[in-house]
Amino acid sequence: MRSIAITGATGFIGTVLLSHLVDQGFHVKALYRPASTPTPDQTDAVQWQPGDLDDIKSLRKLVAGVDAIVHCAGAVRGTSLEQFENTNTAGVAHLLEAAVEEKIPRFLLMSSLAAREPSLSAYASSKKSGEAVLVKYQDRISCDILRPPAVYGPGDREMLPLLQLIRRGIVPIVGDKNGRFSLIYVDDLVAAVCCLLKSDPAPKSRCFELHDGQPDGYTWQKIKTVAAHLNGKEPRCLSIPRSLLQMIALTNAGLARLLDYRPMLTPGKVREIFHLDWVCDNTAIFEATDWQPRILFSEGMKRLFP
Ligand SMILES: NC(=O)c1ccc[n+]([C@@H]2O[C@H](COP(=O)([O-])OP(=O)(O)OC[C@H]3O[C@@H](n4cnc5c(N)ncnc54)[C@H](OP(=O)(O)O)[C@@H]3O)[C@@H](O)[C@H]2O)c1
Repeated sequence: MRSIAITGATGFIGTVLLSHLVDQGFHVKALYRPASTPTPDQTDAVQWQPGDLDDIKSLRKLVAGVDAIVHCAGAVRGTSLEQFENTNTAGVAHLLEAAVEEKIPRFLLMSSLAAREPSLSAYASSKKSGEAVLVKYQDRISCDILRPPAVYGPGDREMLPLLQLIRRGIVPIVGDKNGRFSLIYVDDLVAAVCCLLKSDPAPKSRCFELHDGQPDGYTWQKIKTVAAHLNGKEPRCLSIPRSLLQMIALTNAGLARLLDYRPMLTPGKVREIFHLDWVCDNTAIFEATDWQPRILFSEGMKRLFP
């Protein structure tokens, strides 16, 4: 398999994925939205296709002649179900339609662990609906779903402020103090995508969770221990009350309607943050590929803040 079409290549995960695919010797066709992104540099290894998930013509051009598609574009900010579904559900359907028309044999969807709990938020629900679209196409194209937990690494803007505080010896407890969560460094995630692309396709759609190798996920206590090692001293903990986050989220939601922008922290995101169990299971991906995670949170923090 030599030629891959990807979406979302101008975003956090997609940027890293694109350069990893090129490093691995793949030829890549990448979608970009001219309206929101400056025209990316043209190189021999990457062919940039202007377009949008709404524009089926551009999607046909994107996927024509490739061996596989990695669909990494997604809406991660917003206030309404409609905003999320337009991209995370309808976008999957449009791309799959183009893929089937062009007889592309393989499709990988970057979903989210949030899809495991669709009742929590509009984002989670839209990611789950996107997965459901793919299941409908599985008799015509080999489909795999990846469900990463929170992803961090260079280029990420969402988790960076929190990680900067941890690096300075302050651990903000954002969520339930008894919560457990998996994490994954972006390099490990894109390595998993490459392993899947190199593995044999399956006749039925498969769904893979994946984490960084920390068994049973992280607790806030474990994060404190990592912070203590990084800083050489006991960190200070800062509990962020749910009521405060909820107040900011409600303000965001109101302002977003007035000023027409898409915030990250919404009441749905607060419900996601306070969910008790965001622990992933690597069993299925270990059985399907030879992928191994390499970057635990302690190592990821050292890479981010050398
Ligand atoms: N970051 C995480 O912690 C995390 C965790 C689990 C799952 N995920 C999933 O991973 C994927 C990528 O996330 P990310 O963090 O890299 O997000 P991101 O930085 O916001 O990037 C989103 C990408 O999607 C593109 N996009 C959005 N709407 C589009 C449309 N209508 N047509 C074409 N392209 C469109 C964006 O293009 P522009 O540059 O033009 O805006 C950008 O390239 C998403 O599907 C997300 O649900 C992320």
